Amino acid sequence: MAGFQSLPGFREFFPEDFSRRQHIFRIWRQAARAYGFQEYDAPVLEPLELYKAKSGDEIEAQLFSFTDKGDRDVALRPEMTPTVCRMVGAKAGALKRPIKWFSIGEFYRYERAQKGRLRAFNQFNADIFGEVGAEAEIELIALLIQCLAGFGLTQDDFSIRLSDRDLWFFYLEALAFDDAQARSILTAIDRYEKMGDEAFKSYTEAHGALADDKKARVLAFLKIRSLAELTAALQPFASEKLSARLADWRKVLHGLAAMGLSDFVSVDLGVVRGLAYYTGFVFEAFDRKGDLRALAGGGRYNDLVKKIGYADLPAVGFAIGAVTTGLLLEQRGLTPTFVNAPDIYAVIGGEAERAAAFADICALRAAGWRVEYPLKDVAFGKQFKLASETGAKLALIYGGEELAKGVVKIRDLSDRSEREVPRTDVFATVRDALSGQ
Ligand code: HAM
Repeated sequence: MAGFQSLPGFREFFPEDFSRRQHIFRIWRQAARAYGFQEYDAPVLEPLELYKAKSGDEIEAQLFSFTDKGDRDVALRPEMTPTVCRMVGAKAGALKRPIKWFSIGEFYRYERAQKGRLRAFNQFNADIFGEVGAEAEIELIALLIQCLAGFGLTQDDFSIRLSDRDLWFFYLEALAFDDAQARSILTAIDRYEKMGDEAFKSYTEAHGALADDKKARVLAFLKIRSLAELTAALQPFASEKLSARLADWRKVLHGLAAMGLSDFVSVDLGVVRGLAYYTGFVFEAFDRKGDLRALAGGGRYNDLVKKIGYADLPAVGFAIGAVTTGLLLEQRGLTPTFVNAPDIYAVIGGEAERAAAFADICALRAAGWRVEYPLKDVAFGKQFKLASETGAKLALIYGGEELAKGVVKIRDLSDRSEREVPRTDVFATVRDALSGQ
């Protein structure tokens, strides 16, 4: 037997994979800090109840859930949103507004593993609480763009598709759909891109035939791709709710234009998002070539904090996934090369020279330099070969002869030049040689 395998959809991160993932996290963290978001963390195991009737049927069906030894029904978190709502809700009164938080963590969904979809995956979540105005959407969409542009991706590589669930509901209401029918239509729209007309099957099963003229109007609305088209489509309806939504749309698109980000954003009412809690703007990030699953998704969810038992607190946020982001970076040749080289390799003459070498190695490491040496006694000549193989910039040579003179030899491994320096000067010499690296 080949030993135990990891579970389907769960990955191991060998050092090279780990460093690629770290690179992704580093860019996300940098972006979040630049936008003034504060980092938090939360438990991976939560009460099952937190996701019931909140995240939506699809996520509920994918939960990794079980009963723990204390007879509690628990689930591995499939997403961060209900948890961060609970955290912010519990302290809402004490937190300075606007509350801008981010986190990076692992999430678990029992999905059919496929390209870009796993059962354990990492997300970066960013959310703003306490801001009812569309300024929060501008801030978050701009952050999402930076979270991808930070890798060197451009508007030719990805786009943010912006839509609006409230707008859909108000529009469907104006077309005389009741609430249950409207929800069913939105489910169909969510699936329309993949399934075409088949997507309306569950609507007709639940609510009877969908009149041709109504279906045509739904499909026409779904195909809207610009603010001008949207304004024209809403013209015939003298609805205050629809006009207010249109004003918000202008605010978001003009705000992003002022930031120079228009080319990253497209109006796309075909996006409605599968999660149950979204109330207003929703958005997803996609690779332009379109052969990957969504890179990121988010939107406004003004009712969720209240729904889980806290104050009425408006919220907007998004999550970006590390799996699809990593695939896109690979496709575009933007994955950094894996460098695992020490700064310094210490070549040690023998047992007698170890004490002096160890003292310096330890001091250099404490100062933050990455120093390696052969753990066991290795022939002197072989150590030089090892030193070059590691990719180190400098070799420090602790030979018996040199130590007797109170010096250490420093070899620059890039040009093989060597010089002797008094042991007391090792630290300063290394600093000068490596500064600016
Ligand atoms: P979501 O659309 O379910 O939204 O997930 C966001 C992103 O996480 C996806 O676009 C995808 O990149 C990644 N993702 C989701 N499931 C998987 C999977 N099985 N394997 C790999 N990657 C995956 C949410 O989770 C919302 N809670 C986002 C949010 C935050 N809304 C408001 N605040």
